[in-house]
Amino acid sequence: MKIDFDQAVLLLKQDKVVAFPTETVYGLGANALSDKAVANVYKAKQRPSVNPLIVHVHAIEQAASIGHFSDVAQQLVHHFWPGPLTIVLPLRPDASVSTLATAGLQTVAIRLPELDSARRLIKAVNFPLVAPSANPSGCLSCILFDQVETLFESKMPVLWGEESQKGLESTIVDCTTEKPIILRHGVITKTRLETFLGMSCQEAKPGDSIKAPGMLLRHYAPTLPMYLNRNFPENRQAFIVFGDPDLGTIPQGAEVFYLSKKSSLEEAASNFFKILHLIESKGSFESIGVMPLPQKGIGIAINDRLSRGANQE
Ligand code: TXA
Ligand code: MG
Repeated sequence: MKIDFDQAVLLLKQDKVVAFPTETVYGLGANALSDKAVANVYKAKQRPSVNPLIVHVHAIEQAASIGHFSDVAQQLVHHFWPGPLTIVLPLRPDASVSTLATAGLQTVAIRLPELDSARRLIKAVNFPLVAPSANPSGCLSCILFDQVETLFESKMPVLWGEESQKGLESTIVDCTTEKPIILRHGVITKTRLETFLGMSCQEAKPGDSIKAPGMLLRHYAPTLPMYLNRNFPENRQAFIVFGDPDLGTIPQGAEVFYLSKKSSLEEAASNFFKILHLIESKGSFESIGVMPLPQKGIGIAINDRLSRGANQE
């Protein structure tokens, strides 16, 4: 259900849930200070309430009233905010964020989005917004207004916006330990973080105690079986490629989907969820095959989403 900016502000002030665009993916916003509003998000998303939410702010000062900034955290946000970086900080004892939003943890994930309309929205309501990706739990994230409409069967109020430019969820960095730990890969790569900080960043590995359930093995799942590291399409297969490879004759019912013909990983990231949604919406394929993508730069974040959505053979 399409709504305008003023309606979004009004609904959010009434503890309602509103989907809104950000530069990464669309989010399901609600008042982070209100238990009732946050409970509505978990319900709308059918998300287990043990999985905490990211608190979105419009200014660094707003973040400083919620989380306790270490030196590293300060440096990171002054460089990368506003932008697709979420930092996890110790929760300030005097912060008024709903305990449901942090799932009762003593830490809090915070992000200052880059998209102007998202920041204006947070400023206009005058409270921070929790915003998980705007998709029912386990479904694909959305980067287009129409995708949110479809997944929530037009019942969710959605603030219209342009396509999310980055196309992948934010990079999450845990700043509660002495050395930062990457909890989720995203558009801001490990190399960029390390080069900027001048130190190495650890990565959370699957099987580590789960700090971000985005780390759960199966998470970003299309409904079709998906097979990685393929070189040729099979019958009735949606075949995702990077670059513009020569595939010879395409088998019956198969179709090729190009992440980036010019082999740009940025472009591939921004097309990734769009292509998966398109494949699902066509309804004519039996499976998805994916050619290998370079395991470097943003390719790491794309491969991470792929491996969590793929089937093992
Ligand atoms: O790009 C994004 O980050 C999007 C847009 C809408 O901002 N949001 C998003 O939210 O991806 P969500 O809820 O789908 O993912 C948030 C991740 C989850 O994996 C959650 O476990 C983790 O952040 N998280 C939240 N609070 C945390 C905390 N205190 N410690 C560790 N992980 C946390
Ligand atoms: Mg998500």
